[in-house]
Amino acid sequence: MELNITVLAGDGIGPEVTAQGVRLLKAVAERHGHAFTFNEKKVGGAAIRETGVPLPEDTLAACLESDAVLLGAVGSPEFDALPPERRPESGLLALRKALGGFANLRPAIAYPSIADSSPIKAEVLGKADILIVRELLGGLYFGQPRGIEEIDGKQSGFNTMRYSEDEIERVARVAFEAARTRRKFLASVDKANVLETSRLWRQVVGKLSSEYPDVTVEHHYVDSFAMHLVMNPQRFDVVVSENLFGDILSDEAAVITGSLGLLGSATIGGKIDLYEPVHGSAPDIAGTGKANPIGAIASAAMLLRHSANLEAEATAIEDAIRAVLDAGYRTEDIARGTYKQKCTTEEMGSLILEHFNASTALSAAQSA
Ligand code: IPM
Ligand code: MN
Repeated sequence: MELNITVLAGDGIGPEVTAQGVRLLKAVAERHGHAFTFNEKKVGGAAIRETGVPLPEDTLAACLESDAVLLGAVGSPEFDALPPERRPESGLLALRKALGGFANLRPAIAYPSIADSSPIKAEVLGKADILIVRELLGGLYFGQPRGIEEIDGKQSGFNTMRYSEDEIERVARVAFEAARTRRKFLASVDKANVLETSRLWRQVVGKLSSEYPDVTVEHHYVDSFAMHLVMNPQRFDVVVSENLFGDILSDEAAVITGSLGLLGSATIGGKIDLYEPVHGSAPDIAGTGKANPIGAIASAAMLLRHSANLEAEATAIEDAIRAVLDAGYRTEDIARGTYKQKCTTEEMGSLILEHFNASTALSAAQSA
């Protein structure tokens, strides 16, 4: 199969972790006879430095012409003083909007072999396996009006949270469908005791649930859900929430896995699907070899699953990640408790790659 992938490495640790994701994709193409092409473009701070804007036209055009976009991270302290619309992050938000994906899938899995990396007790973590479905194109991130204005000589900031019925229904549908393929348990998270958008959210999810009688639905307020998520993570399966709540809950869910560096994501439902690790650009550790490439590699696996329909290859990469962790290899962020060996970003990529190659060679030998 042919696949054109636009690679937006971005800022900070973005380039080094993305390089490891691309290595895995190249290995898949090579081993299974696919033609993947990689087109590298600038985004975020890297783009501002070169062109003055965080999402240059040429980057957006390349993304819109490709089959999938693999992104690293955006954000850089040198732009911290700038207003939101001129910061690197605004390039990412404009890209998300232009690509159109509204459902951001963020799996958080507790790997028992790295339970020591989580501050949560191993028996509480168990085999927690959660899929957060975060609405990505609405809510406070995009609502108008927004701004800072002066009222009676004092600054006053304002944002708008707005959700239409259709925006809620389409993302809830993705979550219900996902729940169907898993443990058939959906937690819908809102703040319906205070917000109108949340009241509507609850109403739309409730109505849609009649189409999915096989899926059990629970509605939770976001504050109490934030507590239950870490008190009893094994209880939950699919979680659906609006943009900002989903952003916050997915960082919290990283505590279940042990490190934000382990989480990948897929944004689906639009013109072009977008794959990016959940972590940020971590400028403090960029270039030190401390970054964990697993989030980027997991995102590459999701790309194979959702944009190329290569389920077996995606699973083989995910199995390789688990096997390398089980074998005791750790990047800096997950080097806690007992383990075999610390490794750098690139070494971790190599280990996962070797494991992937060995397992696919094995399955080829078995089927020959
Ligand atoms: C994320 C990030 C982004 C977001 C930032 C970088 C704009 O935190 O993907 O979770 O808030 O969506
Ligand atoms: Mn975030």
